[in-house]
Amino acid sequence: MNVDGKKYRTIWLAEDGGSVEIIDQTRFPHTFETIRLHTMEDAAHAIRFMQVRGAPLIGATAAYGVALAMRTDASDDNLHAACSSLLETRPTAVNLQWALDKARRTLVRLAPEIREEAAFKLANDICDEDIAINMAIGMHGMELIAAISRLKRAGEPVNILTHCNAGWLATVDWGTATAPIYMSHDGGIPVHVWVDETRPRNQGAFLTAWELGQHGVPHTVIVDNAGGHLMQHGEVDIVITGTDRTTATGDVCNKIGTYLKALAAKDNSVPFYVALPSPTIDFSLSDGIRQIPIEERGGEEVSRITGRTSTGEIETVDIVADGSPVGNPAFDVTPARLVTGLITERGVLEANRKAIADAFPERVRASA
Ligand code: MRU
Repeated sequence: MNVDGKKYRTIWLAEDGGSVEIIDQTRFPHTFETIRLHTMEDAAHAIRFMQVRGAPLIGATAAYGVALAMRTDASDDNLHAACSSLLETRPTAVNLQWALDKARRTLVRLAPEIREEAAFKLANDICDEDIAINMAIGMHGMELIAAISRLKRAGEPVNILTHCNAGWLATVDWGTATAPIYMSHDGGIPVHVWVDETRPRNQGAFLTAWELGQHGVPHTVIVDNAGGHLMQHGEVDIVITGTDRTTATGDVCNKIGTYLKALAAKDNSVPFYVALPSPTIDFSLSDGIRQIPIEERGGEEVSRITGRTSTGEIETVDIVADGSPVGNPAFDVTPARLVTGLITERGVLEANRKAIADAFPERVRASA
């Protein structure tokens, strides 16, 4: 997507052909800065400390991490060690494991001398595939938005609520939940997006609002607790979120607070859709609440907040009473029964085992 008129992906091979560049997402929304990853350790650090985040981008960064490891030492031992280190960085988004399994399976069969080149090619291919998937999700999701738009008065926007950042910053380009929004906007369908701020890390306020603004999409940032109220008053036509891991049965794990939006949507008959690239499906799981590992992050993300002062400095301040313990579960699971549909690259599916298996039979076979 464009940043101040220049086209960017969120991750790309640097001009030297042996290092990788990323956009540092810890600096948003006030600073746009790119940084260079030279080693596998740099890639692991970028994922762990959320310089890159979002399930598809975590997977792509891990794939480049393996390539950077192969650059220094292409032995079997180092391949396995790199995959293990990268896998430990964040537990919930299954795209990490998906990308690492793919890299390990591909590279282990090759002679060490050709592993570096093959690993960079694989990472590049994962990035290209991510973009193609998101564009297909965009086309299918746009049909849902267009159908709602046809029921409105001319010029009246479709109000879409989204949570966290499942935008282009969470992927290589386009985003998952945002792809239908960008395509609708570009195609002349009036849209307006309610952006949940998404405490504690504020991915909505810091990232989604920034990227929608860059693209000229009308939007309003709201506190996380406003969604239910807006739905009760007919101000939300559709909810579209992303996902970090979806079970074979259609349970959806996404940023903490997604479940509450799904409950409110159900109570108000607002359709609740999840944009789901197929690498985010974990075919080995059937019960999201019991089986998906939920990342517990540091308490300082809850007890502190960072922002820009009126004099332009970036400062972090405490917002919790001294001595009060804090908890910080980073994701929750929305059961399939609350999901109206899954917007995948192969069409909009019901959130159940049969619909998912029918759409991705080769993935079911591979996981058996
Ligand atoms: O903790 P984060 O910022 O990595 O969480 C990201 C999300 O929850 C996204 O909604 C999800 O990864 C889908 S991204 C297309």
